[in-house]
Amino acid sequence: MGRKSPNTSPPKKLAVDHHHHQTRKRIASVAADGDAYNRKVREIDSSAIENGVTNGTVPLSTSPIESKEMHDNSAGHKDPHCDPDNPRIIQFSEISAAAFNIKGGVERTPCTRSNQLSKMLGMELYFKKEFLQVTGSFKERGARYALLKLTKEQRDLGVIAASAGNHALALSYHGQQLGIPVTVVMPVIAPLMKISMCRQYGANVMVQGANIGVAKEIALGIAFEKGYKYINGYDHPDILAGQGTLGLEVLEQVSNIDAIIVPVGGGGLIAGVALAVKTLNPSVTVIGVEGESCPSFQTSLNAGQLINTPCTSTLADGLAVPTVGANAMATARGLVDKVVSVCEESIALSILRLIEIEKAVVEGAGAVGLAALLSGKLPELAGKRVVCLLCGGNIDTTVLGRTIERGLATDGRLIHFEVVVSDRPGGIAELTALLSQSGASIKDIFHERAWLRTDVFSVRVKVVCETRDREHAVELENVLKSHYNDVNFNL
Ligand SMILES: Cc1ncc(COP(=O)(O)O)c(C=O)c1O
Repeated sequence: MGRKSPNTSPPKKLAVDHHHHQTRKRIASVAADGDAYNRKVREIDSSAIENGVTNGTVPLSTSPIESKEMHDNSAGHKDPHCDPDNPRIIQFSEISAAAFNIKGGVERTPCTRSNQLSKMLGMELYFKKEFLQVTGSFKERGARYALLKLTKEQRDLGVIAASAGNHALALSYHGQQLGIPVTVVMPVIAPLMKISMCRQYGANVMVQGANIGVAKEIALGIAFEKGYKYINGYDHPDILAGQGTLGLEVLEQVSNIDAIIVPVGGGGLIAGVALAVKTLNPSVTVIGVEGESCPSFQTSLNAGQLINTPCTSTLADGLAVPTVGANAMATARGLVDKVVSVCEESIALSILRLIEIEKAVVEGAGAVGLAALLSGKLPELAGKRVVCLLCGGNIDTTVLGRTIERGLATDGRLIHFEVVVSDRPGGIAELTALLSQSGASIKDIFHERAWLRTDVFSVRVKVVCETRDREHAVELENVLKSHYNDVNFNL
């Protein structure tokens, strides 16, 4: 294919590409046969690349994807299904086969319109509620399909995977359902709740490795030694095909959509969904969202090769994959219109909005799509029909508690300030009276005397309090500033 010709032009940034959409639209009539259509799309992409008509949507190098790190090479053990030197582009027919096979084995989750958020954001907004799967994420789709595709011998021997969370849960549960032995290697940082759930689903759970990279090395070593099949949770071709069924389902559930917003970690989900959606309706805009703490998909797209991108800790832990999958990247290439990244505050706010408005508990990785909308990263979607994937709900209760506080703070409903008041009797009573008259509720209050440089009859009071909204907080700030000279407000 033309994709293999070397690309000497500098890496290009992704952008919505109308030329590509139109080209794909014109050949949509041949979409009845997914494979034929797929080939056609790839030919168009290839000729566009050869003619230099990339228009920004095909930002990757046309050479086989290179990897800066030996992605799947652990102590000499490579994953034969995920080879960065020979990436595999999956076909639409694999997604339809997956849909047929997993039917009845995974939930058909609702995809419903949000009245309030549609109004707030000025668009027709639908949420695909994948957090309602049995194990709390879409990962069941790929996991079940990968297990169903095993040969008799592989089924008897079993499978192995490295995962800190949702893929491990999905594989453990469906392994139990299908009677296939599952081993998961979970890094020591994996949440205890997820480790114990995998055990409850009957998996052999090994908690080893400081991070997912080390856990993967260990898992590949065991796979080689014991003959288990290693199933990469974001790059195995069957995983990509399984995740693609989510795209098919969305198109069945909501008519005439303009855009679909997809969280991106290792890239398996967006690869499958983009292929499904663009094959059936090329005019749908596919938008990827990742966390600012690990923008590995965008970095690799811009560079035209797989780049190991250091990740910092994040609420969207499911998206913290330093090197995206080679097959995922090769499959998604040319089918994704735009990728944006979101900050931690917006993820916290998104989780809060989903709880308050949708009555939905969604984990950070699953909430980045709404975070992108709330933080104004996708203004072009105003007035459009948009589906946002809420793809997981596995958040630790303790993290959820902290996240709600973070969200309230971002929303201006949890504020803190310092004020210097009189240390004579009644000084603090006056302050609390002012706060109560303003309708603010005190959560925490404490004084500081020793370090004040002003007169000894003053005291610095630090207050944390709850307000109705940001306007209310600003009102309170004005009231305090009109009463006291030394007020330090943090909104
Ligand atoms: C809830 C959730 N959303 C999105 C993703 C991203 O999927 P992928 O790694 O296939 O890009 C993950 C990955 O674990 C996830 O757990």
